[in-house]
Amino acid sequence: MPKSAASNALDRVLVMEMVRVTEAAAIAASRLIGRGDEKAADHAAVEAMRKAFDELDIDGTVVIGEGERDEAPMLYIGEKVGGAQGTGPRIDIALDPLEGTTITAKAGPNALAVLACAEEGNLLNAPDVYMDKLAVGPGYPDGIIDLAKTPTENVEAVAKAKGVKPNEIIVCVLDRPRHADLIAELRGIGCGVVLIGDGDVAGVIAVTDEDTTIDMYMGSGGAPEGVLAAAALRCVGGQFNGRLLFRNEDEKARARKWGIDDREFDRIYKLEELAKGDCIFAATGVTSGSLLDGVKRLRNGTMTTDSVVMRASSGTVRWIKGEHRAAFKDD
Ligand code: FBP
Repeated sequence: MPKSAASNALDRVLVMEMVRVTEAAAIAASRLIGRGDEKAADHAAVEAMRKAFDELDIDGTVVIGEGERDEAPMLYIGEKVGGAQGTGPRIDIALDPLEGTTITAKAGPNALAVLACAEEGNLLNAPDVYMDKLAVGPGYPDGIIDLAKTPTENVEAVAKAKGVKPNEIIVCVLDRPRHADLIAELRGIGCGVVLIGDGDVAGVIAVTDEDTTIDMYMGSGGAPEGVLAAAALRCVGGQFNGRLLFRNEDEKARARKWGIDDREFDRIYKLEELAKGDCIFAATGVTSGSLLDGVKRLRNGTMTTDSVVMRASSGTVRWIKGEHRAAFKDD
């Protein structure tokens, strides 16, 4: 038996199976692209993903999902998924059936169906709060970025290691009023700032792909999305720092509920603290973007999907083009 498959709940067969799950969610959401209905698009993706999980021989638990049990009818945190409850490998799953609900409703770029899975206990059970994020691609010395430092200091460190001036560094940031000071600081030192409207999972992963020209990712977004992006970086390389941000006592209470101690509220999490051990990351494009093409419907009824699946223990990245006959997929 190959080493990577031995004594590991993440059987290598699962790598391909996870793509079926993100493909199903992406195809379902794609019917709602540009229809102006975020909720309907999300609902379609959730239902399709839930159904696809049942086909898998796993004893899965959703650790990052659509919300808490009383908020989400399906794929809520703690929900058991998979068709082999009590017998299959016990796997924790972080998922976002539709990362970029607004993007999908407006037919913008970079909406994804995305999930990550790891052996039980290996993904941070991130509460649905904001997370301050800082990421850089592979090939830099360990510890080159540090959320405890200023944006300028981080840019200077990366520029020095890359052998360029700070004004040659390109940083991706979510376009939000809360990032006005950050954007002004970055532009003040001459950085190129790539502003994205939504979808920071793709934004963070963009630092790992030289074709995007993006060197760094900075700014706050959803903590669950932070764990998903960290799982991807565990597979392809790169560095990530994440710190939970709490706006009120209710958000702190949510964190405590998921086992995060008060002393950890200011903690800066690194990659391995967000996604430990072996993990699998899978995504399928809903709309086209920097990472993947979106779902396309051809005139003969065939649908095409573009997916990526990666595994931390082997570092293998697979790009998968799917052709789906509408007769089997459309309801
Ligand atoms: P949704 O798919 O839930 O709409 O999330 C999109 C997103 O842009 C994430 O990628 C990001 O982490 C988060 O929203 C940012 O939150 P906010 O829109 O509140 O700034």
